Amino acid sequence: MRDQRLVSSDRSSYSGQLAADDMTQDAFDLDELNAAIEGTRFAGRLHYFPTIGSTNTRAMQQAQAGAPDGSVYLTDAQTAGRGRSAHTWESPAGSGLYVSVLLRPQIAPADILWLSLAAGLAVQQAVRTVTTLESDLRWPNDLLLGRKKFCGMLTELNAEVTRVQHAVVGIGINVHQPQFPEELREIATSLQIETGRSWPRQELLLALLQSLDCEAAALADSAERAAQSIRERLEAGSSWIRGKRVRVDENGGFTGVTEGLDARGFLRVRTVEGLRTVLSGGVREA
Ligand code: BTN
Repeated sequence: MRDQRLVSSDRSSYSGQLAADDMTQDAFDLDELNAAIEGTRFAGRLHYFPTIGSTNTRAMQQAQAGAPDGSVYLTDAQTAGRGRSAHTWESPAGSGLYVSVLLRPQIAPADILWLSLAAGLAVQQAVRTVTTLESDLRWPNDLLLGRKKFCGMLTELNAEVTRVQHAVVGIGINVHQPQFPEELREIATSLQIETGRSWPRQELLLALLQSLDCEAAALADSAERAAQSIRERLEAGSSWIRGKRVRVDENGGFTGVTEGLDARGFLRVRTVEGLRTVLSGGVREA
């Protein structure tokens, strides 16, 4: 499960921080960002923090307090970044894109996985637009370059049985890290490491918000049609959805070969005992 953390447990040994000059070069220009997101659901709803505990925690708190659909919580550094399965997400200043988006989708709780999968596609599209890199999407929404993870997402939800109150999609992209600690080097990467150059976080964020706006609009329009489109794009843009031999850390663990998504977007895996459905993630190459 180490690859979901992308962290060093010894924070003092982490060497992903940028030099002061580079940090200045990749500062966010909030006026420019605000102007560029005019016309999307995010317009006028961008909240920037130089440092924060966790953008997801802030977004969930603000959602509870009534913040509107499309509120965006962006930071340069997190001191308590959170990953899936209660892992931490190392978030040093000037190194990554750390952002959480609050959505109030008019969809049934049973359809919420499609929103999370769509967010993964939105990040994949944003990375493609800005860098031309073709990344792989490991279900449900890790983004990989080669076999290494450079982006993780944490989607959190507040819902009644029949109604989603709000969802927070938190996205962490490793952008400028020049290297990772020894124990993560085989499983973690950054855009800098993969391309040998730096990519502006602002451009990535902008492309991401534009893609996410389209995905959210499509889901609001027709969850059924959007789910069909998400399914098709995942089949085309992820090597993990079909024909991949995987190990799943769930119910004591099992291995098998992936066999597409079920009606709600969960991954199906063919094992020697039959077809199983992966509910919680934790999918690795076997
Ligand atoms: C994972 O792969 O385990 C998910 C990592 C999600 C990290 C992002 S960074 C922005 C947002 N705030 C958090 O505390 N977590 C998410």
